[in-house]
Amino acid sequence: MKIETEALGGPIGAAALRRLLALRGHKLQAAEVTGALQKAGRPRFAGGHAALAALSDALGHLGVTQVRLAATRADMLTERHLPALVEHEARAWVLREMRGARRLLDPGDGNPREVDRAALAGAFAIWLDHPVEAFKPKGKSTAARLLTGALAIRARLLVEVALATILTSALAVAISFFALQVYDRVIPSFAYATLHALAGVVGVLIAFDFVLRLVRAHLLDRISREVDEEVSVAVFRALSGVRLDARPGTVGTLAAQVAGLEVARSFFASSVLFTLAEMPFALLFAAVIAFIAGPIAWVYAALAIGAVAAALLAAARLRTLSRRQLEAGFRRNGLLVESIQGAETIKAFGAGWRFAERWREATAEIAGMGLRARTVMTSAATLAQTLSNAAYVGVVVFGVYLVESGSLTVGGLIACTMLGSRVIGPIASGVALITQAQQAAQSLRAVDSVLSLPPERDPDTPVLAPAALGHELVLEGARFFYANVPVPQVDVPALRIAQGERVVLLGPPGSGKSTLLRLLSGLYRPAQGRALLGGVDVTLLDPELVRRLVGYLPQEVQLFRGTLRENLDLEGTVSDDVLVSSVRELGLDALVRDHPRGLDREIAEAGSGLSGGQRQMAGVARLLLRRPRVWLLDEPTGALDQAFEARALQVLVRALSPGDSFVIATHRPAAIPLASRIIVMQQGRIVLDGERERVLHALRVNAERASQRSDSNPALAA
Ligand SMILES: Nc1ncnc2c1ncn2[C@@H]1O[C@H](COP(=O)(O)OP(=O)(O)OP(=O)(O)O)[C@@H](O)[C@H]1O
Ligand SMILES: [Mg+2]
Repeated sequence: MKIETEALGGPIGAAALRRLLALRGHKLQAAEVTGALQKAGRPRFAGGHAALAALSDALGHLGVTQVRLAATRADMLTERHLPALVEHEARAWVLREMRGARRLLDPGDGNPREVDRAALAGAFAIWLDHPVEAFKPKGKSTAARLLTGALAIRARLLVEVALATILTSALAVAISFFALQVYDRVIPSFAYATLHALAGVVGVLIAFDFVLRLVRAHLLDRISREVDEEVSVAVFRALSGVRLDARPGTVGTLAAQVAGLEVARSFFASSVLFTLAEMPFALLFAAVIAFIAGPIAWVYAALAIGAVAAALLAAARLRTLSRRQLEAGFRRNGLLVESIQGAETIKAFGAGWRFAERWREATAEIAGMGLRARTVMTSAATLAQTLSNAAYVGVVVFGVYLVESGSLTVGGLIACTMLGSRVIGPIASGVALITQAQQAAQSLRAVDSVLSLPPERDPDTPVLAPAALGHELVLEGARFFYANVPVPQVDVPALRIAQGERVVLLGPPGSGKSTLLRLLSGLYRPAQGRALLGGVDVTLLDPELVRRLVGYLPQEVQLFRGTLRENLDLEGTVSDDVLVSSVRELGLDALVRDHPRGLDREIAEAGSGLSGGQRQMAGVARLLLRRPRVWLLDEPTGALDQAFEARALQVLVRALSPGDSFVIATHRPAAIPLASRIIVMQQGRIVLDGERERVLHALRVNAERASQRSDSNPALAA
């Protein structure tokens, strides 16, 4: 594939790269960096894998190893990825900081600049991933740690919120002292001068309080938005990093579990901050009340104990209820996704009632649990409300005796009731908090179950990215089990596919061909034994490098919503000319020609606008555009007619470079002439493997024997 460099982003500049490395702790001379980039062929931002490989080489020359490069769009970066290289105005910058919507760019020559996030919207970016620093689940609640971690790095903002809360609380004290003074000093003598002076001071304080509250709300919104962005990106990354073979089959459920993050996030980012910040002040106010009116504080103490006890009881009750409600919600979401995806089949076979019934069951359970949970929560909140009303009356009644005994003035009593409402407020919201915390905790647990799935790449083992890696594939004692299936679906003691070999994989349906190809591609890991690429255990290799060398076309081609162009060139690195010529070669050009928007024609979700055969051709085109060194094709022509099949195979063979290896699993004879070697699988094992003619001969002999046997013994044939 020829790449027209002019069309592809600007060069990755030495100054920016040098600054980036300096920030990462590698102090280098400018000349060294320039030299290394030159030696590596001056990689450009949008040069795709070739550019990343070149940049990786350059880093290797500079002695910077154990980093993994990833190309992305600047708007996909979060603070965790910083510092990163971005392209802006056709030159390279180090993206150093994100300040809200502003981005701090450093060109490496001492003139940093701040630009708007929008200015970088579609910009190319490259970041250095330190595998050891990568996201790693450990301990119990990973999701909770993610959230609290994200909050913790915003400690400064949180302190500001707490400060605002302290100040607004101080105002409450001031207002209650204002009341005390007015009732006790001003009213007895109608001292208007004092009244006006006091009112003036309090007026200023109120205005100040107004501003503070607005600031506090703004700060909280900002924290909430940033935390949301960061955490949801982290969870999404973790989800995409899950090993394919460890991924549960329940798509809708998984999606709903991830969405649980939203519940938890809104809980963490809003109510909790206010209430927790106000809690200490409830104590402070209680202390002020004790100072003014002594024993009256005990009334509030009793109230607090009662309310907290009610909240804890409610929380214990809620734990099971919200867990069951969530689980039913996940189930229902799974059902929704499945019935929308399978609508055609469901309608064609009249299975609608079955799904409707399951939907009704799940909905009824959600509603039932929801109702019970709400009852519990409402009871707790109402009890807290009632207790605080009772406390108010109790304080007034108690206060009358204290006023009579002379240990409290009327103004003091009024001040106490005003402060009392500030004690009651946090207690009441504390009750709501404890009950909501239960739900958030359950949601987090759901997110955890996603985060605890094994990642494709163990963040603790540094990945290897050897500059020169062969592409011979070897399986050694490899056994693979699907989840919950006790017998291995693939059991291959030894298999070697040398560089340049052309192999056809045959076998009846369910014999393990697809599974074997996935093992060879490195997407699945053998439970026992090893898979080697170029003599290195695939688990140790940088997945990106493996993907670059090994192309895998799944049996079912998945298209996504977007344009045809995006679907064919998923990575977004191929030039139009290459794209158009591949499309034409495959005979897909009708698809482009017949549509007014050509390559930019819209593809509906899951590619539902294309025929089965067209989808399959699109799959082949994808692989053609990638040009891997090992081509693993799983039934690439099953949906094509003979003419198109022949054409597709021809194009594939023409695309192979001399050393490329090629494994094609198929039920169709057309591919057999392409192979020099045939492997036959049965029940997960390789039963025949050898040179094409020998295997074909053995197959013919077997078939003849079988037909003779069934002729002489009809029972066997049945
Ligand atoms: N996700 C899965 N979970 C559990 N078992 C699976 C899963 N996928 C496949 N299997 C089982 O593994 C075995 C091998 O499946 P595989 O898809 O590799 O067969 P295949 O040879 O490719 O078949 P076909 O020719 O129909 O494509 C089958 O018995 C199948 O039932
Ligand atoms: Mg298959």
